[in-house]
Formats: sequence, structure tokens, C-alpha cells
Amino acid sequence: MATRIHNFSISLDGFGSGEPQSFETPFGHAGQRLHAWMMATRMWDPVHGSAGMDDAFAQQHDPGIGAEIMGAHKFGPPGWQDDPDWRGWWGEEPPFRTPVFVLTHHAREPLAVGATTFHFLTATPQEALRLATEAAGGQDVRIGGGATVVRDFVAAGLVDHIHLVQVPIVLGRGTQLWDGLEGLEASYDVEVTASPSGVTHLVFSRKPSVTS
Ligand SMILES: NC(=O)c1ccc[n+]([C@@H]2O[C@H](COP(=O)([O-])OP(=O)(O)OC[C@H]3O[C@@H](n4cnc5c(N)ncnc54)[C@H](OP(=O)(O)O)[C@@H]3O)[C@@H](O)[C@H]2O)c1
Repeated sequence: MATRIHNFSISLDGFGSGEPQSFETPFGHAGQRLHAWMMATRMWDPVHGSAGMDDAFAQQHDPGIGAEIMGAHKFGPPGWQDDPDWRGWWGEEPPFRTPVFVLTHHAREPLAVGATTFHFLTATPQEALRLATEAAGGQDVRIGGGATVVRDFVAAGLVDHIHLVQVPIVLGRGTQLWDGLEGLEASYDVEVTASPSGVTHLVFSRKPSVTS
């Protein structure tokens, strides 16, 4: 069983989100620019999307995944914790269709929405991963973001496979992915593939000799 990150988009200067985050602008001043590449793929849009390299990477997001861990700021805009009716961004059939563990300092009862159950917890990355691995039923666990949670799990040495998508924009501000990850490349084999769409796919595969 592995711990994986897929389709995590960053700007050239390493931001996984702009600012400020709000209900109207979930990605802050980044708008949709970090994810435009994915919305142009067949995975996102089966009718009009492209089936090229970006789609091949994007399609890796779901197969073999039995649970996701995400941060509180991915689950909702600032203040969602005070709204007992908030059920996430994804409507009545969220795309996860697995248990999802939402890391938050404002725990609440589990919430079933469609085929997804959200569990809210305060825990160390190690403890959260242990619970998610149990829930994943022998499949892999995806770390779903945002940048804060990705950074924490990578810094803790818990992630086996990291797929980042570098988008050619400079955000200048937002949530930084790379802070505290100096020298990360020493623990991973790194492959970089430029897509004709203009984005760059970076794949970090943990070296077999490095254990968490
Ligand atoms: N670029 C991408 O591909 C991508 C992917 C996913 C999401 N996003 C975007 O990224 C943004 C969110 O990222 P972010 O870095 O701001 O925040 P985040 O990683 O989603 O969440 C961070 C927050 O989660 C809670 N948290 C984290 N670790 C915890 C722990 N161990 N125990 C308890 N609570 C914990 C804390 O919130 P509290 O203290 O408030 O509880 C913390 O401030 C959103 O705009 C989202 O849409 C981008």
C-alpha cells in the first residue's frame, strides 16, 4: 500500500493556492488558472476534453485509491466550521467515493454525502495516515491537498509518490508548497515531462532505500 499525491497544481513560484480564499474565490487571486490544464482533459470533460499527455497523468488520480486525506481549507472556505450545514464543495455526489479524512481543529461527526463519507479529525500526519490506511481496505491513500497538508505529509516522510503539475504562472503570494522541504530531491527519483499544453509534470518516486 502506498501514499500518493496526484494532479497537485503549483505555480512557477510554488504556490498551491492564491489568496485570500473565500466562498466566491476558493483559490484566491489564482482563480481557475492552476487547474485550467485539468479542466481541458477528457478526465474532466469526457466530451470536449483532450486525450493527450495531460489526460494520461490526470487519469491516475483515482485507480487504486481507497481513502483520501485533505486539509480543512480544501473542504470549505474560511468559516465553514461555523456552518453546521456545510457539506463540502462537491454537491450531493462528491467524486471521491471513498472515506475522506478532513484534518481540522474543529472536529464534527462523520458526514455521508453520496458514496463518500467525510471524517473530521485532529491528528498528527502519522495518526491520520494510520486511520486512512485502515479505512482504505488494502488500497492506497491519496493526500488530496491543499499545500499545507501536502507539505506536512511530505516533510514527515510519509509520501511514496508525488505528482505535481507546474503551471507557467507566477502567483507571488498564497499557500507555499516548498517551505521546509529543502533537499527533498535527495529522497526521491525525480522525472520531469513537459506537456505540449504548457504545463510541466513532475513525478517524485521515493527511493527504495528511504523509509518513513
Ligand atoms: N493546487 C492544487 O492542486 C490544490 C489541491 C487541493 C486544494 N487546493 C486548494 O488549496 C487551498 C487550501 O490549501 P491550504 O494549504 O490553505 O490548506 P489545507 O492544507 O487544505 O488545510 C490546512 C488546514 O487544515 C487544518 N489542519 C492541517 N493539519 C492538521 C492537523 N494535523 N490536525 C488538525 N487540523 C489540521 C488546519 O485548519 P484549522 O486549524 O482551521 O482546522 C490547517 O490550517 C484551497 O484553496 C484549495 O481549494 C489546491
